[in-house]
Amino acid sequence: MRQQVSRLTVLFVILIGALVAARIFLVPETFGELGHFRAAAIGDIADLQVKYAGRAACAECHTDVEETRLAGRHASVSCEACHGPAADHAEDPMARQPEKPVGRALCTLCHGYDPSRPTGFPQIDPAIHNPLQPCTACHQPHAPEPPVTPEGCSGCHGQIARTKAVSHHALLPCTTCHTVEEEHKLNPSASRPTKPAARSFCGRCHAPDATPPPDIIQQVPRVDLATHGGHYVCWQCHYPHFPELR
Ligand code: HEC
Ligand code: HEC
Ligand code: HEC
Ligand code: HEC
Ligand code: HEC
Ligand code: HEC
Ligand code: HEC
Ligand code: HEC
Repeated sequence: MRQQVSRLTVLFVILIGALVAARIFLVPETFGELGHFRAAAIGDIADLQVKYAGRAACAECHTDVEETRLAGRHASVSCEACHGPAADHAEDPMARQPEKPVGRALCTLCHGYDPSRPTGFPQIDPAIHNPLQPCTACHQPHAPEPPVTPEGCSGCHGQIARTKAVSHHALLPCTTCHTVEEEHKLNPSASRPTKPAARSFCGRCHAPDATPPPDIIQQVPRVDLATHGGHYVCWQCHYPHFPELR
């Protein structure tokens, strides 16, 4: 019993000693002078360079963008949340132009699906929500609206459209491969669209010497038309609306 008490006492003495030592050696000098912080930090922080101009600054010159933003669903998102810190630009617009965030990374930071986000916050799964295309192709960043689901082909051929949207042919409009008369959308059976009929059709983009339309930005994989797939039509093996082989 006595032994335990003395052990405990020794433990307490060590602990208190450690606390006193910490107070003396580890707490910075000016700590506590003005409050529960290091008084000298005020000067250090004041010396830091200001990087963000703040919401109000941008509106002074970019009134049009500011008005658009305030009227839309991004009213609560500050300019610099997307364009990065821009105090230097606000001071001297010609010194540096803020970045224009293109691509999908910025938007998915907030809109990528995450179960911990509040229900009702607009979220998408970037892997299946119109992959390959930049978000700004369909959404205006300063006043985003979910655009009306495009009518046209997907209104009636939804399954094909959804399949194609996640395939390597996502960027090809339906009309790249089908010629469709206006009449077809009113009276489908009366006017049937054309369908590719020969291997050479796919060769327009996939033959070694083909020159695909310039707006097809991706690298188009090439095959030797004379030997690849024998004499079968390409869609014997590749579903044209999802051509990758799994
Ligand atoms: C003193 C006026 C002024 C202020 C303040 C200002 N800008 Fe600018 N901004 C300009 C001018 C001028 C340009 C160049 C316009 C051009 O080249 O057409 C520009 C260009 C830009 C561009 C690039 C446009 C492009 O086409 O590349 C962005 C983005 C931008 N500003 C964002 C901001 C943000 C964000 C803020 C607030 C932090 C801000 N600006 C504050 C005047 C200002
Ligand atoms: C949600 C993100 C986001 C916010 C918030 C945002 N921007 Fe932008 N901004 C963009 C993107 C993305 C582009 C590029 C658009 C494009 O290339 O089509 C852009 C483009 C611009 C441009 C170039 C001209 C144009 O209209 O394309 C200017 C100037 C600009 N933004 C200023 C601002 C200012 C000022 C604010 C705040 C009032 C602001 N932005 C808020 C994402 C944003
Ligand atoms: C800093 C976070 C943030 C970033 C980055 C951001 N957004 Fe948003 N977005 C929001 C908030 C907040 C709302 C409004 C949500 C609400 O009203 O409930 C919103 C709303 C939207 C909506 C409206 C959805 C609906 O159902 O009405 C669309 C579309 C959208 N954003 C697209 C984009 C795009 C495209 C980009 C990239 C250019 C982008 N967002 C970048 C925060 C962000
Ligand atoms: C090809 C056009 C297209 C592209 C590219 C696109 N979207 Fe959309 N987006 C739509 C359409 C159409 C809707 C409305 C129908 C739907 O929900 O699918 C929508 C809806 C949304 C919504 C609202 C979802 C909701 O539940 O309210 C958000 C947020 C959104 N998109 C964000 C993005 C982001 C972020 C990107 C880029 C990573 C992006 N979109 C790329 C067409 C597009
Ligand atoms: C109003 C609904 C509707 C719209 C809009 C529509 N289609 Fe159709 N489409 C149909 C129906 C129904 C058929 C089947 C007709 C039949 O078998 O008689 C069909 C058949 C087709 C066929 C097959 C023809 C064949 O001979 O096998 C193609 C290809 C096609 N559509 C492409 C398109 C494209 C591309 C678009 C958009 C530009 C489009 N369709 C828009 C309803 C529609
Ligand atoms: C890369 C070229 C290509 C693109 C892009 C394309 N198609 Fe097709 N489509 C074909 C080919 C080739 C066939 C014939 C397949 C067969 O005969 O087995 C076909 C057949 C069809 C058919 C009839 C057979 C079926 O699968 O039901 C419909 C309907 C159709 N396409 C609709 C569409 C729509 C809608 C789009 C856009 C969302 C589209 N296609 C985009 C190449 C394409
Ligand atoms: C007999 C079945 C068959 C036919 C017919 C066929 N392919 Fe393929 N294709 C394949 C297989 C299997 C692969 C994957 C293995 C490989 O790369 O050879 C492939 C791969 C491809 C690739 C991807 C090459 C790469 O480098 O990623 C392209 C593009 C392609 N085919 C286009 C076509 C075109 C265009 C036609 C018609 C001219 C066609 N194929 C006809 C079986 C076929
Ligand atoms: C207008 C140009 C164009 C036409 C016509 C076209 N393709 Fe493609 N195709 C592409 C592009 C672009 C890609 C690659 C997109 C990417 O991966 O980013 C591609 C990719 C492919 C791939 C590779 C998928 C993988 O796994 O990498 C195959 C297979 C393919 N196409 C088959 C076909 C067949 C079969 C046809 C004819 C029905 C056809 N393509 C017609 C442009 C075209």
